[in-house]
Amino acid sequence: MNLFFRRSIIAGTGLFLCIFMIVHLSANCILLLPEEIARGMYNAYSTTLRENPIIKIVAYLLYLSILLHVIYAILVTFRNRSAKPDKYAINKTEDNSSWASQNMGLLGILLLLFLIVHLANFWARIKLGMGASVGLDAAGNVDVYEVTSSLFHNGFYVLFYSLLMIPLGFHLNHGLKSAFKTLGFYHRKGLKVLARVSVIYASILSVGFGIIPLIVYFK
Ligand code: HEM
Repeated sequence: MNLFFRRSIIAGTGLFLCIFMIVHLSANCILLLPEEIARGMYNAYSTTLRENPIIKIVAYLLYLSILLHVIYAILVTFRNRSAKPDKYAINKTEDNSSWASQNMGLLGILLLLFLIVHLANFWARIKLGMGASVGLDAAGNVDVYEVTSSLFHNGFYVLFYSLLMIPLGFHLNHGLKSAFKTLGFYHRKGLKVLARVSVIYASILSVGFGIIPLIVYFK
C-alpha cells in the first residue's frame, strides 16, 4: 500500500474526527449552564445519541475512524523513520518543519492516552455498563451529568483533562492543515487562510474542552 494512500486515510478519518469534535464540544457546553437546566438537557441529549439508529451508525463510523487513524498514523510514522529525508511526501514547507509536525507521533500518543482514560471514564461505564452503576435522573434518563460532574470534582481528573487539551490543540492545528494538503489542497492564498482557520479551530477546541472541567470543578 503506497504512502499517499496511507496518508489519505489519516487525512480523511482526521477530518471526520474534526467534525465530531465540534459537535462533541458544543454538546459538552451544556455543562456550563446552571445545574437545574444542565442535568436534564445533558442526559436527554446523551440518551438521544445512544438510542437514535442513525446516530448509532455514525458512532460505529467514529470508532472505525479512530482505529484507522491510529493504525495508519503508526504505519506512516514507522515508515518515515526508516525512510531517507528526501523520500518524505511533503517536507520542504515551513509548516512541515514546525515543532508540531516533527512531534505528531508524540502528540498522538498523549491523545491516545487521553482517549483510553476518557472512554474508560464515560463510554465503558455508560455504554458497556462497566464499573460502578449509573443512576437515572427524574425523567428516567441515564444520569450522565452525574458521572461527568463527579469526575470533574476530582482534582486529578480536572488536571488530566485540562492539561491534555494542550497537546490536543497542537495536534489539531497541524493535523487540519496537513489533512487538506494531503488531499491535494495547494492554493497559495487558500493555504494562508487555512493556516489561520486551523489556529482558530484548534484554539477553540483545546481551550473549550480544557476549561469545561475547571468550570465544573469551581461551580
Ligand atoms: C470536557 C471534556 C469532555 C467531556 C465532558 C466529554 C464527555 C463525554 C461523554 C459524557 C461521553 C459519553 C457519551 C454517551 O455515551 O452518552 C463521551 C464520549 C466520547 N468522547 Fe468525550 N468528552 C470530553 C472531551 C473529549 C475529547 C477531547 C475527545 C477526543 C479527543 C473525546 C472523545 C470522545 C469519544 C470518541 C467518545 C465516544 C463517543 C460515543 O459515545 O459513541 N471527548 N465524552
